[in-house]
Amino acid sequence: MFVQIVAISALLSLSSAQTISGSTDCLPAGGYTLCQNLWGAKSGVGSQSSTLISGSSASVSWSTNYTWANNPNSVKSYANVVSNTAKGVQLKNVLSAPTSWAWNYQSQSSGIRADVAYDIWTGVPSSGNPASSASSYEIMIWLSGLGGIQPVGSQVTSGISVAGHTWNLWRGPNQNWQVLSFVSAGGEIKNFNVDLNDFFKYIITNQGVSSSQYIQSIQAGTEPFVGVANLMTSNYSVTIQKA
Ligand SMILES: *[C@@H]1O[C@H](CO)[C@@H](O)[C@H](O)[C@H]1NC(C)=O
Ligand SMILES: *[C@@H]1O[C@H](CO)[C@@H](O)[C@H](O)[C@H]1NC(C)=O
Repeated sequence: MFVQIVAISALLSLSSAQTISGSTDCLPAGGYTLCQNLWGAKSGVGSQSSTLISGSSASVSWSTNYTWANNPNSVKSYANVVSNTAKGVQLKNVLSAPTSWAWNYQSQSSGIRADVAYDIWTGVPSSGNPASSASSYEIMIWLSGLGGIQPVGSQVTSGISVAGHTWNLWRGPNQNWQVLSFVSAGGEIKNFNVDLNDFFKYIITNQGVSSSQYIQSIQAGTEPFVGVANLMTSNYSVTIQKA
């Protein structure tokens, strides 16, 4: 009986690699959801497909392939995984928010312009959608930014140390929310293991963000502007421990 169960679960995990393409937006991925999010695709020409390699309640492995051209200053998409559970907690009630993200480019064209980044949304109401009228802040953490791309707004601080890495912080408005972008000042970080609470504490102390803000969503993915690439996430996880 035990052997049979093992055999069935091996079959299930073998058949679990699934690819979404075009405007098919999202796919269940264990404790996460894998999304294509072609929000800026109209500004360019190209295509993208994203593949779920494996997903459990704790962690997820996925990849995305894209080809994008035209309007090199405009983001085309944000292929990402979003945690189904790490949300709805006020910043002041976060004890820790451990995350780990191991990623690499399997292939990339010369002249690629793309970031690899977290996108974390907060707002005043206890439940609200990311990127909505209920959003106050969009907190990005750029583990990579290739081709001279820049975040929203302007650089407000450089060389700050948060969570064991050095960052330049950018800030500016977008629609009805403020964007705070931590950009790695030490090059690409392909093996990221931190407590996101260090970033939350930093923006509460230094950027006037209220500790009453609720986390609406924690996403991790890539924003291509132009280029051709296959970006692989071999393992990603995030959780929130409440105080
Ligand atoms: C993604 O691109 C890689 C080559 O970089 C290729 O091996 C793989 O088959 C592609 N995957 C999909 C789903 O198109
Ligand atoms: C993936 O991440 C999870 C959660 O951090 C960890 O428990 C697991 O060992 C990792 N898996 C691999 C293959 O590294």
